[in-house]
Amino acid sequence: MRLMITKSYEELSKLAAENVANIVEEKPNAVLGLPTGSTPIGMYKKLISMYSDGTLSFRDVTAFNLDEYEGLDKNSPNSYYKYMLDNFYGHIDIAKDKTNIPDGKAVDIYNTCIEYEERIKKAGGIDLIILGLGNNGHIGFNEPADHFSGITHRVKLHRETIKANSRFFNSIDEVPKYAITMGIRSIMHCKKIILLASGKAKAEAIKKALKEPVTAKVPASVLQLHQDLTVIIDEEAASLL
Ligand code: F6R
Repeated sequence: MRLMITKSYEELSKLAAENVANIVEEKPNAVLGLPTGSTPIGMYKKLISMYSDGTLSFRDVTAFNLDEYEGLDKNSPNSYYKYMLDNFYGHIDIAKDKTNIPDGKAVDIYNTCIEYEERIKKAGGIDLIILGLGNNGHIGFNEPADHFSGITHRVKLHRETIKANSRFFNSIDEVPKYAITMGIRSIMHCKKIILLASGKAKAEAIKKALKEPVTAKVPASVLQLHQDLTVIIDEEAASLL
């Protein structure tokens, strides 16, 4: 594991973007795994600037998002589809048919999940996945549990996650109770992983994930077992290490 502690969120975002850019420069048809949430916003902004400056192109990149809420229409202001369009895909030259997000409105969720995994496999697997970290230690929407999850699946969101994510909705009752997420097995199969965390609220989860024994009660702790993990966190998130 490579641990990089930055002075600020700004520096974390720059470093994360440079890591993504390096992969895309080395392999223009790289396959990326991408998160939503507050943490990657700065990284997406830097990547958009690199594209606007003409120093980076995503023309041949394929991307798979980690997760999507169940039941939200693609164009709902809180869908992850809309988030990606507004914060990243809408500002770069990635081909629309190379962006993949689980379909939260799918009628047959089970087959949608299987098909998502098949698409990842067909693309040659994910070269680099970027992960955010939940306050409860979740990655994607893999919540604390008794055992690690497998491939992409439907998940019931925990109360803390619903509460944490209610900041994006008009009220907590509007937050979907279920989601579709890549599983722990899908994440561990990615060739490279970058975990990002910023702020004091993440310090406890970072300590448990990186310094304590691997347990499904802290899903991110499984990353300790990955062969190519880079952790980029700011000083506040690192404050309990
Ligand atoms: C979102 C995702 C989640 C978030 C996590 C942290 O696609 O996979 O695991 O990364 O909840 O969210 P923020 O960055 O908003 O603190």
